[in-house]
Amino acid sequence: MLPSDTEFDVADGESVFEAARRQGVRWPSICQGDMECGICHMQVHDGAENLSACSNAEADRIAQGLKASDPATRLACQARLSGPVTVLRKGVRQIT
Ligand code: FES
Repeated sequence: MLPSDTEFDVADGESVFEAARRQGVRWPSICQGDMECGICHMQVHDGAENLSACSNAEADRIAQGLKASDPATRLACQARLSGPVTVLRKGVRQIT
């Protein structure tokens, strides 16, 4: 993960946000993964093919946010992985 070089594992069926929290990584959020706040947005730099498809509901939530014009934007609470991915998200840090 950029810019902090934080790395963590994501289990099958787990979202990026859930995996971060499970491993003591602070990920910005207000709604705690309920797809209401949009604060968990991230920019996908590499490995987009390893992310779950963006649902219409996720796309609608992204369209309401500050990063709406960036096609690489995904919500960490919705994106699930099937392989390595590199993303950019400021404010993410290891807390434990
Ligand atoms: S954590 Fe609020 S929309 Fe993802």
